[in-house]
Amino acid sequence: MIKFNEQTKIFHLQTPNSSYQILISHKGHISHVYYGTKIGADDLSYLTRQMEYGFSSQEIFREKLSLLDFLPMEYPTDGIGDFRESALAISDATNHNGVELIYKNHKIIEGTVQIPGIPCVFAEKSKSKTLVITTEDAVLNVEVDLYYSVFDDCDAIVRWAKIKNNSNQTIFVNKALSAAFDMDDNNFDMITLHGSWARERHLDRRPIHMGKQGVVSKRGETSHQEHPFLAILDKTATENAGNVYGVNFIYSGNFVAEVQKNQFDSLRVTMGINPENFRWKLNAGDAFETPQAVLVFSDKGLNGMSHAFHDLYREHLIRSPFKAKPRPILINNWEATYFNFNTEKLLEIARQSKKDGIEMLVMDDGWFGKRNNDDCSLGDWVVNEEKINGGLKNLVEQVNKIGLKFGIWFEPEMISPDSDVFRSHPDWAIQIPGREPGMSRQQLVLDIVNPEARNFAYESVAKILKSANIEYVKWDMNRQLSDIGTPSLPADQLGEYFHRYVLAVYEMQERLITDFPNLLLENCSGGGARFDPGMLYYSPQIWCSDDTDAIERLSIQEGTALMYPLSSMGSHVSVCPNHAVGRVTPFKTRGYVALSGTFGYELDITKLSDEEHSQVQRQVQLYKEYSDIVRNGDYYRIASYSQNNQFDCWASISKDKKQALITFVQVLNHPNYKSIFVKIPGLAQDKKYKVTYVDEDQTQNPPVILQGSTLQNAGIKIARPWGDFGSILIYIEILNSEFRIQNS
Ligand code: DGJ
Repeated sequence: MIKFNEQTKIFHLQTPNSSYQILISHKGHISHVYYGTKIGADDLSYLTRQMEYGFSSQEIFREKLSLLDFLPMEYPTDGIGDFRESALAISDATNHNGVELIYKNHKIIEGTVQIPGIPCVFAEKSKSKTLVITTEDAVLNVEVDLYYSVFDDCDAIVRWAKIKNNSNQTIFVNKALSAAFDMDDNNFDMITLHGSWARERHLDRRPIHMGKQGVVSKRGETSHQEHPFLAILDKTATENAGNVYGVNFIYSGNFVAEVQKNQFDSLRVTMGINPENFRWKLNAGDAFETPQAVLVFSDKGLNGMSHAFHDLYREHLIRSPFKAKPRPILINNWEATYFNFNTEKLLEIARQSKKDGIEMLVMDDGWFGKRNNDDCSLGDWVVNEEKINGGLKNLVEQVNKIGLKFGIWFEPEMISPDSDVFRSHPDWAIQIPGREPGMSRQQLVLDIVNPEARNFAYESVAKILKSANIEYVKWDMNRQLSDIGTPSLPADQLGEYFHRYVLAVYEMQERLITDFPNLLLENCSGGGARFDPGMLYYSPQIWCSDDTDAIERLSIQEGTALMYPLSSMGSHVSVCPNHAVGRVTPFKTRGYVALSGTFGYELDITKLSDEEHSQVQRQVQLYKEYSDIVRNGDYYRIASYSQNNQFDCWASISKDKKQALITFVQVLNHPNYKSIFVKIPGLAQDKKYKVTYVDEDQTQNPPVILQGSTLQNAGIKIARPWGDFGSILIYIEILNSEFRIQNS
């Protein structure tokens, strides 16, 4: 719901459980008024006038600087006296930097709005509304449209901006963030996500300090290191209680997300494309649109925030026809063989996989050019028939005959110096003329901003896909962008490169899913360096991390699931000792952890013991039984190993609250210690449930019947597994409606 009150000049945006208010100030600035728990339509403009004493005068609105430096803003601008972080910075033809946005008009549109070439949320017209506030800088003759989309079915507000150069001069946009808002610091904490390769998205919660703090990427991709997400939350906020504001960016390149606490203990939250290395030339008559930022508010703690993000992404961002469907259980040969495979080996894996119930074989890196290690051939997307003897079509036919689907790996954005394509097109690699480019994994980045190189890469992929019955693609990207240089852009547009690169990736992926509408696409970037909402627009699943160790995955999947639905998290069972950390964990635990993602295997199945084969078969069965709840239900973090040093626990609860799957992983066993009880929130409080310990001895751990409120407030006892890294799966099912408790 979006309403405008002509008298008070207030826009009131409402989601099912939150309110957001914006004021057109008496001078025409677009001012932030309120964001939080749903409230009525009162005039809250007094909230923007909080300062009691000005710099040199008590009459604080007398002068522009004292006004602009504390007025809560919606889209703050550079150069005119708001000294906090700006969202927009422009230099005009004479290189002056001021921008001041004054209200011009507004409209409220039914439904959402698509930005050409950029991943966007979508919704039926009847289920969402978009507010467009048009502002103007009359001196520059520039208009800026501020967009806000709201939805009837989830607590998210999606924001972005469009900058239109209506003048007859070229201007340069030096910074164009997607969202900003100001609020008072209520002694908030802040959460951001950090990591590295094989250690993605570990959660960091800390107090907000004075000055600026936040996360950035200038690596050309989202990155393993920091994530385009931040939350600010009550110091007392827990998983299920307290106010939480989450911000996430629908984008796959350089970003900045910051909180700035200033001299008045006000907070400014900003999110958008990283302005470092960004400068967009805007010719007369042209427009620039930022990607979309997602704002979420929950007064029900972090789980409430996660539900809002998950619902938004599942309902309004992921387009794939696979999004709500069971995904084929796949086996990927990467950790099984690395580069050392051929047709016979793959068929051996396929035959055994079929026996164990696996549904798709994915051939990973190493099938093309002369790629027997990772220092050559990227760009030479021609099947190596010395390895794939008999050719790709034959291999796929044989795999299909065995009864498995077939998938394939590509890394289309890369070029190896040792490749035929580089030898004939050395200018297709990103590099600065006269400077030796930095090498990573012995590869360079293909200059996909150059339409010729981009088209070549896309056509190479498409040709392979047309050559056989290939039903899945893993699109990988294994290095970050440096040494930015291209013959395809003039000098005064080089500052556009990073953004144009991301647009080029989006264009290629759009072509791919348009040309191959039944393809299941999984994005990947050296594990999870491009796990972001931008990529989810194209692929319903993304490889979460190259670290497949079940214990390492607890933190990685916990951080990832803060925003992203479990249905999107690529998660596989691999062998022990684990290839990333050398740890040995029970096969059962590896399976239970992977079952909370898209599920599959990453091992040489021909080398498993009989006992392990029967465990694979059991896990396949569990996936079939429970993956609907995991994919489409609500996810709750219950306990976190990183906080309690003992165990992890989480739940998936079906939307109708009739079924739940609880995963408990004991990391380290503690001797001579109290029992473990876990409290399970989110079930119907007045209904009875049957609680079954899935793979446990039913005589030792018989099912129990408990009420939803009991499960939430008293919890259930967990029989502590013997040894480290043990795990338990619990299935909870509602009893028939006659068991409804009266007056409870
Ligand atoms: C990085 C990916 O994350 C791995 O799964 C694998 O596909 C390798 N690249 C192949 O080079």
